[in-house]
Amino acid sequence: MTAQTLFVTGTDTGIGKTRIAVALLHGLRAAGFSAVGYKPVASGCEATSAGLRNEDALALQAASTPGWDYGAINPIALAEPIAPHIAAAEAGVTIDTEVLDDGHARLAAASDWVVVEGAGGWHVPLRARVDFADWVGGHGWPTLLVVGMRLGCVNHAVLSARAIAAATPFIGWIANTLPPIQPRLEENIACLEQAIAAPLCARVACDARADLALNPAPWFVRMNRRE
Ligand SMILES: Nc1ncnc2c1ncn2[C@@H]1O[C@H](COP(=O)(O)OP(=O)(O)OP(=O)(O)O)[C@@H](O)[C@H]1O
Ligand SMILES: [Mg+2]
Repeated sequence: MTAQTLFVTGTDTGIGKTRIAVALLHGLRAAGFSAVGYKPVASGCEATSAGLRNEDALALQAASTPGWDYGAINPIALAEPIAPHIAAAEAGVTIDTEVLDDGHARLAAASDWVVVEGAGGWHVPLRARVDFADWVGGHGWPTLLVVGMRLGCVNHAVLSARAIAAATPFIGWIANTLPPIQPRLEENIACLEQAIAAPLCARVACDARADLALNPAPWFVRMNRRE
């Protein structure tokens, strides 16, 4: 079995990537697929008796088809809640994309889908001269952009959308309504629909529901038709 991989990036940190990745895992599993989340690099971890643990990776693990240990879902766990390449340097580690590739290959060999969550936004560095965009673009993984709907998101979304489309297949974007709901939400979504060439895949309401389910399979069909 070789999985379909979906990379989830966002307009910023703290805008809903994990929430959407979890919803994608729920949607895929509800549709009958085996699906696993992957958080290759996590900065901001708690020290536990089992080792460093990151909240996002634990949420992805809980939403995944059971059976994966923590290290399979998050191979690089860094203590400090700061930019990953800086957290890595402070821990005396260089983030090696071969380690990220091996971790992905292990999940992909045994799943229908792998949902990969980046860290921060599209161009977050992994180490000197290598960022997430290089890694994802090198694999050509289809990418979904989560737009956290708040003041300033149009600029972040348009820049991210253009950069993604230049590097890898761009599935589309999600309008994720963050609290507090921004004034003129509809006008902002309409503006983004005009400005971003790829489709609006889903609108996610501002609520605290943890059981949200989104099935990305139809978005892939539409993207393949578009290409
Ligand atoms: N649609 C929504 N409605 C209400 N709260 C939301 C929504 N989306 C995200 N949140 C909340 O916003 C916060 C940030 O979301 P999340 O952790 O998914 O962001 P992220 O982009 O994955 O962040 P990071 O860059 O740290 O990985 C969380 O507390 C989450 O519950
Ligand atoms: Mg996250």
